Amino acid sequence: MHLAVVGVTGLVGQVVLDLLNETKLPYDKISFVASERSVGKIIPWNGIDHTVISMDDAVASKPDIAIFSAGGSTSLEWAPRFAKSGCFVIDNSSAWRMDPDCPLVVPEINADAIDSNTKIIANPNCSTIQMVMALNPLHLKYGLDRLVISTYQSFTGTGMKAVRQYESERDGKPVEEPRAYHHPIFENCIPQCDSFLENAYTKEEMKMVHETRKILRDPSIRITATAVRVPVNGGHSESINVQLKNEFDLTTVSNLLASTPGIILMDNPANFEYPTPLQSKNRNEVLVGRVRRDESQDKTLNLWVTADNLRKGAATNAVQIAAYLIDQKLVNRN
Ligand SMILES: NC(=O)c1ccc[n+]([C@@H]2O[C@H](COP(=O)([O-])OP(=O)(O)OC[C@H]3O[C@@H](n4cnc5c(N)ncnc54)[C@H](OP(=O)(O)O)[C@@H]3O)[C@@H](O)[C@H]2O)c1
Repeated sequence: MHLAVVGVTGLVGQVVLDLLNETKLPYDKISFVASERSVGKIIPWNGIDHTVISMDDAVASKPDIAIFSAGGSTSLEWAPRFAKSGCFVIDNSSAWRMDPDCPLVVPEINADAIDSNTKIIANPNCSTIQMVMALNPLHLKYGLDRLVISTYQSFTGTGMKAVRQYESERDGKPVEEPRAYHHPIFENCIPQCDSFLENAYTKEEMKMVHETRKILRDPSIRITATAVRVPVNGGHSESINVQLKNEFDLTTVSNLLASTPGIILMDNPANFEYPTPLQSKNRNEVLVGRVRRDESQDKTLNLWVTADNLRKGAATNAVQIAAYLIDQKLVNRN
């Protein structure tokens, strides 16, 4: 099994390497891949010096699985070339998510969307992954009618460039141009994640709409979101108002969430127990708390959900998909 980590020098790529060590994914060979800027760079890892190779060299080396964390335009250009060589591409960008021929997968929810014929598998947006993890058990039991979401998203969700902008502003140094964000992110909140669309929502907000419906296989769910970038160094949070199709009992909801693999219920406000992004950091699970009835409307509850955007929001989910491909013996190159 030959694994390629594409975008290995980036924030997500580095966490993919951590995950490979933690999960002990079985592979015989690993390739470190990044842009031409990084080709030849040495990355020491597990006691070995790995040399970063180019996309051309990576595709020629015919990996079995490539985990892509290198942005949408790179994925659009290169994922089909890797796939053509017989490689499974697990893609962290938004490039393939809404392609009807590509599965959009959160393994706990819809691993069954994967088969050996679909070589490009899309990892959903980080905000979507943590939200559907919390909502899927409720969807299966009560049916989701409408979601009203506000996000509080770490600047690490925008990659290395945003980290540099935050650190420069914090340290009073000049910010590298072009900036990750038009406004300062240090000591600020920016109600814009990604660019604006004609309907006045941002791309990030509409990803949450379309990707949620695709993963949960229900185009009828009504969804509206406001995505906000906050000066948090890792970890996304979401306030989700969930209108269900059927009446619910709060204890049953809590028990359901607490017993769902991949979710940790932290819900004892009297003891200051509720999720925060800091508590999510370096964890693979999605944390859920502040579970309460919306007293202004029937069949409706409020949730607060946090997760490490670089882990379950990206690297963890991608490595879980790779593990699924291996477990199901879908990787078969001989
Ligand atoms: N950050 C998150 O929380 C998060 C969550 C979910 C999904 N994602 C997605 O994951 C991807 C990576 O995000 P990130 O935060 O890790 O970004 P990042 O820190 O900016 O890293 C980008 C990586 O992509 C590589 N790259 C850029 N252009 C390339 C090219 N033409 N060919 C090959 N490699 C290229 C970079 O290599 P060089 O170092 O050589 O430039 C670097 O390794 C993005 O598509 C992002 O939307 C990110």
